[in-house]
Amino acid sequence: MTTRPTTIAGVGLALRPPRAEDADALGQLVGDVDRSHDVVADWVRRWERDGFGSWVVAVEDEPVGFVGVRPREDDIALTVRSTPAVAADGRARAALRLAVADAIEWLPDVPLRLRVAEDDPTTCAVAESSGLVHVPEDDHEARGTRWQVLESPYVRTFTSLPPRARRSLVDLWVRVNDAGGAVGFVAGAPREDVEAEVERREDGLASGHLRGVGLMTPAGDLVGAAFLRTPTTPLQAHIRSVESVMVDPQRRGASLGRHLMAGVHRAARDEGVEILTLDYRDGVGLGQFYAKVGYTEVGRQPGVIRVAPGDDRDSVLLWRRLAETPAPDQTGAPEEPERR
Ligand SMILES: CC(C)(COP(=O)(O)OP(=O)(O)OC[C@H]1O[C@@H](n2cnc3c(N)ncnc32)[C@H](O)[C@@H]1OP(=O)(O)O)[C@@H](O)C(=O)NCCC(=O)NCCS
Repeated sequence: MTTRPTTIAGVGLALRPPRAEDADALGQLVGDVDRSHDVVADWVRRWERDGFGSWVVAVEDEPVGFVGVRPREDDIALTVRSTPAVAADGRARAALRLAVADAIEWLPDVPLRLRVAEDDPTTCAVAESSGLVHVPEDDHEARGTRWQVLESPYVRTFTSLPPRARRSLVDLWVRVNDAGGAVGFVAGAPREDVEAEVERREDGLASGHLRGVGLMTPAGDLVGAAFLRTPTTPLQAHIRSVESVMVDPQRRGASLGRHLMAGVHRAARDEGVEILTLDYRDGVGLGQFYAKVGYTEVGRQPGVIRVAPGDDRDSVLLWRRLAETPAPDQTGAPEEPERR
C-alpha cells in the first residue's frame, strides 16, 4: 500500500508535522506566543483527523518557520513564515516549493492559494519562485490591508488532444526545443517535425498506450507537459516510462518542473503504477533535477544520442519506486539568496 510521507527532507531543512512543544518558537516568530498554543494544538488535531495539514519547517528538528496548509470549502489556503535568516538564504522558498509539490501530488485536487499583503514583496517573491501566479481578479481588501492572491499551477491528465490543446502542446514543445531542451529534438527543429511527433503521440493516446499530463496556469494556459507510456507486455503492467518532460522555458527554475513531476507521480499512482523509469540525455544538468524528485540512476548507454556531429551524449536510465517514500531531497547546488 502507498503511504504518503509525513516528513519531507530538503536541502538544509525538513518539513514535518507540528508538535505541541513547537508553540513557543512559532509564537515568537509571529509575535503572539499566547495564541500560538491554541493554533499549534489545532494544527496537531487537523493532522490527526485529515492525515495532512500545516508543516513545521525544521532545521535539525528545531522549528524555524511553518507552511500553513488549511483546506477551505473550495481551495486550500497556504501561508509561509520563517525566521529572517531562513527567508534570506532561500530556505523559506525551498520549504514552500516542497509543500506545494506535496499538495499537488497528494492532497485534494483543488486550487492552492496564498494571499500576501501588497506591501510584502519578499513573501510575494517567495511565492512566485515557488511557481505560484498572481491572480489579480482575486485581490481584495480585509481589515484595512490590501491583499494579493497567488495561486499554484494545477495538473490535468489527458487521453486526447482537441485542436486548441494540440496547438498549445506544439507551441510549448517548439519553444522548449529552441531553448535547448532535450525532448527528442535540437534547437531550431522545424515545427512540422514536432507536429508529426505530436500526431504519433495522439495515436498512442488513442490506443491507450500513452497518457498525457499537463501543467496549467490558474488561467488554463499550458506551461508544462509529460507523457506516461505503458509497456506492451502484461508482465510490466505495474510500471510506466515517463517521456518528454518539459516546462515553459521562460519560467524555468520556478519549480514548475517539480510540480509537473508531482502531477506525473499522482497520475501514475492513480493507475496503480508502482515503478517509473525514464531516459534522459546527459550533459544538460537533468540528473540533478531528477534526483531532486526521487529518481536514481540505474544505467547508462554511452554515446547513443548524437546531438550534432562530434557531440555524442549518453542516454541515462533512471528509476523510481512510487509505492515508497522517495529518497531525501538532498542533492544539488546551494540555495541562492532571495530577493529582498
Ligand atoms: C528539466 C525541466 C523540466 C526542469 O524544470 P524547472 O521548472 O526548470 O525545474 P524546477 O525549478 O522545478 O527545479 C526543481 C529542482 O531541480 C533543480 N534543477 C532543475 N533543472 C536543473 C538543471 N538543469 N541542473 C541542475 N539542477 C536543476 C532546481 O535547482 C530545483 O532545485 P530546488 O527546488 O532545490 O531549488 C526544465 O528545465 C525543462 O523543461 N527542460 C527542457 C526540457 C528537457 O530537457 N526535459 C528533459 C526530458 S528527459
